[in-house]
Amino acid sequence: MGIEPLRDGHGRRISDMRLSVTDRCSFRCRYCMPADGMPWLARDELLSFEEIARLVRLFARLGVSDLRLTGGEPLQRRELPRLAGMLAQIEGIEDLSLTTNGLLLERHAEALVASGVKRFNVSIDSLSPERFHQLTRRDALHRVLRGLEVLAQFPQARPIKINVVALRGFTELEVMPFARFARERPFEVRFIEFMPLDGDRTWTPEQVLTGAEIRDAIATEWPLEPLVREPGATARVYRFADGRGRIGFVNPVSEPFCADCNRIRLTADGRLRTCLFSLGETDLRGPLRAGADDADVEDVIRTAVWHKELKHHVNDPGFVRPARSMSAIGG
Ligand code: 5AD
Ligand code: SF4
Repeated sequence: MGIEPLRDGHGRRISDMRLSVTDRCSFRCRYCMPADGMPWLARDELLSFEEIARLVRLFARLGVSDLRLTGGEPLQRRELPRLAGMLAQIEGIEDLSLTTNGLLLERHAEALVASGVKRFNVSIDSLSPERFHQLTRRDALHRVLRGLEVLAQFPQARPIKINVVALRGFTELEVMPFARFARERPFEVRFIEFMPLDGDRTWTPEQVLTGAEIRDAIATEWPLEPLVREPGATARVYRFADGRGRIGFVNPVSEPFCADCNRIRLTADGRLRTCLFSLGETDLRGPLRAGADDADVEDVIRTAVWHKELKHHVNDPGFVRPARSMSAIGG
């Protein structure tokens, strides 16, 4: 007899999970972390590899097939390739991917690919070393680009995507260089609208540079043609009309895609979040450590997922930000 797949109370099938493996990061991107960092989780607050694998097995049985490792910076977690290898072997996990700031890719790309990570998203917000430094508060662009080149040598790691957070007053100057980069290199660049998840809590709607604005700017130079959006996909992807490369726009603020959202998130300390903007979360680590059996944990998961939020309220009056910021949630 088949197992009833995970569904929420709005009829959405949940098949995608983001797993944060650490809240720590070596960068301090202005849209994410304060300059001084955050109060980090203690070692014993983090789920162990064994606890993570047990939960992922459970989620996979319930129909989660796509798993993305995130952080903080996931490569800050020791032995991440070993964890990836454990997770890649779990029955039902069809697509294992990683979002990284790229700093440690040079060293770990080969082991990650060998352990079964198929798709990579690398965050790069500027192609100018000075402006990269200004935004991330780390002088590391060259090292990140070297990591990207190492990764590109593995044809089985595709597609490789570049995440660019779009900030009004900063990203305008980056649009054309990134469009050129996407045309010349085997990377898909995606601009992501700035969301109210920054550690400094200084987000305002005025600082959101929308995907439509960026797309129009690119199209004046290089015409774009939309590709069909797959259900559950967050990005609106375009191809350059002359066939050279593609470029995407993730527009959670100006064009929310909540209606067909198929994702959930598990934080590094074992809290299940059914939305980036959830005000509540469900503790799975507690039951796990108290000796709950799989059926008990499954009940907790099903109930939490059933109550998944219909949509976010970023654009509504009275919007309340979640207590956690991006690096503590997992992007
Ligand atoms: N708004 C939009 N994107 C963000 N990211 C981090 N903070 C924010 C924010 N406030 C992005 C990172 C990374 C991904 C996990 O989330 O750049 O690419
Ligand atoms: Fe680190 Fe990513 Fe946050 Fe930048 S956005 S500080 S790389 S977790």
